[in-house]
Amino acid sequence: MMKRIAVVFGTRPEAIKMCPLVLELKKHPDLFETQLIVTGQHKEMLYQVLDVFKLKPDYDLDIMKESQTLFSVTTSILEKIKAVFDRLQPDLILVHGDTTSSFAAALAGFYLKIPIGHVEAGLRTNDIYSPWPEEFNRQAVDIISALYFAPTEAAKQNLLNEGKPSSKIWITGNTGIDALKTTIQSGYKHEELDWVGSDRLILITAHRRENLGQPMHQMFRAIRRVLDENKDTKAIYPIHLNPAVRKAAHEELDGCESLHIIEPLDVLDFHNFMNACDLILTDSGGIQEEAPSLGKPVLVMRDTTERPEGIAAGTLKLVGTEEDAIYREFNRLLNDQEEYDAMSEASNPYGDGHASARIVDVIKTILS
Ligand code: UD1
Ligand code: UDP
Repeated sequence: MMKRIAVVFGTRPEAIKMCPLVLELKKHPDLFETQLIVTGQHKEMLYQVLDVFKLKPDYDLDIMKESQTLFSVTTSILEKIKAVFDRLQPDLILVHGDTTSSFAAALAGFYLKIPIGHVEAGLRTNDIYSPWPEEFNRQAVDIISALYFAPTEAAKQNLLNEGKPSSKIWITGNTGIDALKTTIQSGYKHEELDWVGSDRLILITAHRRENLGQPMHQMFRAIRRVLDENKDTKAIYPIHLNPAVRKAAHEELDGCESLHIIEPLDVLDFHNFMNACDLILTDSGGIQEEAPSLGKPVLVMRDTTERPEGIAAGTLKLVGTEEDAIYREFNRLLNDQEEYDAMSEASNPYGDGHASARIVDVIKTILS
């Protein structure tokens, strides 16, 4: 009998990592009816991704508000999603990772006793406040999941350490790498890359909730100091739409001539900017997974990471959020060729680009 699968996500990174899976599920219309529910936790940044993958949601809960809080995101999703689940009666709900959309959708599924499949299960820092609230979200989703799609061996081990049954855990690779395999283009061109010319290109992103305020100001100050001292270096910063991020960035970075703050790039452009750059400074999670595949060094402006594989591969370095530490590490990497070369080895700790197909194979067996 045909099984109904509800895929739920709400933010840019979830969309980038779940669209390849939705497309893979949709290759089997004889087996599954795949329904795409977006919470609308993000709006423009979510549809930028859906447009690239040419997917239209079946339901959009449309919950985003300017300067939304964890309370409003959680309660709006819980209030709106019940009616959709009641109507669809899914056999399986698939959520991704660690956002509040994932947590609230999984909680709603749990209340309705519908099985949850967790894509990108098992990532841990084991510090509940870092990243915040994501570490709670991912642990909470794993408590109520029936199927665990772990991207790596280490993620599987985290789940086993918590007593999750090994018969419900599959190592699949990360679906983000599936996306990356479809976006990189040889001969890619963009006017911002023309502006950089033969200078070195630094790509910057920042958005983490726990970095809002003082840490973010310190990050930006360090970046400005380094750019002022290294004249053959340019930076491009596609800025998150969060007004709090924008305010801090403009206060610290306006007038810096070697840095361009630009609107968020769609995923195709962003992946190609990553491919063209020399170095990335970020507090993002997904970028830590993509960069090793492309052999791009990343200074991670956070105190913890749930992506130890990239550190082990040598591509990622945790530099915290203190101004002087970021200044020192950033400057060093620009001026120490040996260190730079060591961090630029391409590797694939997060998979081979076939994670979605593996997940669909598991679901076929489980639901048949
Ligand atoms: C969310 C996730 C975070 C993830 C990040 C990816 C939670 C609690 N946080 O954080 O885990 O790393 O997405 O980017 O789930 N905004 C827009 N348009 C958009 C998107 C955002 O205007 O398309 C603005 C809105 O003013 C919104 C604000 O950004 O209120 C913050 O968005 P929110 O989803 O609450 O937080 P993120 O930092 O994006
Ligand atoms: N990304 C994008 N456009 C941008 C910046 C990032 O498409 O302007 C992509 C990036 O390649 C990665 C994902 O968005 O796949 C990361 O999203 P984000 O940093 O917002 O969230 P996180 O991964 O930290 O949850």
